[in-house]
Amino acid sequence: KNISLIGAPTDVGASVRGAGMGPDALRVAGLVEALRSQKFEVQDLGNLAGPPNPWAAPSGGLRHLEEVTAWNRAVFDAVAAVLAAGDFPLLMGGDHSVAIGSISAVARHCRAERKHLRVLWFDAHTDVNTEAISPSGNLHGMPVACLLGHGPQALVGWSGERAALRPEDMDFIGIRSVDADEKEAIRLLGLQVFDMRHIDEHGIRNTMTEALHDIDEGTHLHVSFDLDCLDPMDAPGVGTGVRGGPTYREMQLCMEMIADTGRLGSLDVVEINPALDVRNRTAELAVEFVQSLFGASTLAR
Ligand code: ARG
Ligand code: MN
Ligand code: MN
Ligand code: MN
Repeated sequence: KNISLIGAPTDVGASVRGAGMGPDALRVAGLVEALRSQKFEVQDLGNLAGPPNPWAAPSGGLRHLEEVTAWNRAVFDAVAAVLAAGDFPLLMGGDHSVAIGSISAVARHCRAERKHLRVLWFDAHTDVNTEAISPSGNLHGMPVACLLGHGPQALVGWSGERAALRPEDMDFIGIRSVDADEKEAIRLLGLQVFDMRHIDEHGIRNTMTEALHDIDEGTHLHVSFDLDCLDPMDAPGVGTGVRGGPTYREMQLCMEMIADTGRLGSLDVVEINPALDVRNRTAELAVEFVQSLFGASTLAR
């Protein structure tokens, strides 16, 4: 399979500036060359275009709804085109709101291909706020709600069904920051959240075994990787870092166990904020994890 890189250089879903530089940080960190060294055909489709960030206050509980919608329309079309060509879409964010367009396109594709879509959401946050409960109004805290059919009308239903995903089709890994009303939403939706306490008690290997248990030949696995999932000591270049994340080794094992399934079909790498980073460390870390996701291993060639 050929890998197609799509850049979505925007921070309209966030309230901290800088995630729009994420795609170029990944390029500078050598993402294309790293994947080519693993013998993949890689094409960098360049950056999508979209509206600038108006830095406006939230209105109706939502900041920049129009701009987030426009960016996601571009993301949806680009990801859909790559999937239609039979290639692997690797979306480089941008803030995490771009997962709405990305996963909606993947869900539509999976329905057409009769594949079972499973999403693994690596994040410090569950991103399941809605305009009614979000403390910030930032849409990068709402993509999961939108994909489950509960966000603002403009961002719901893009896959062709009201909900792109059912709660049982996704698992969250690395969670340690959930807003007060988000907790209730998680409970009502019945979401499977492997929070840091779960990882502490069961270990990362058992946690991933649980998360991957129902994957078979008919599965399309989508990974949505928010770099703030990692401990900020390792990944300082993020806008909403929270201490106490998985270690470098733990995250490597997650990536390797996903690669072993052979079912990875699409990927988002989001929330890298070069303005807050230290010598591009976070983008370089992301490149290492992406290599592992695509099967790089210490001993196998
Ligand atoms: N829960 C917070 C909010 O809704 C933070 C969300 C951070 N999301 C992210 N993709 N980094 O504002
Ligand atoms: Mn996050
Ligand atoms: Mn599950
Ligand atoms: Mn996120």
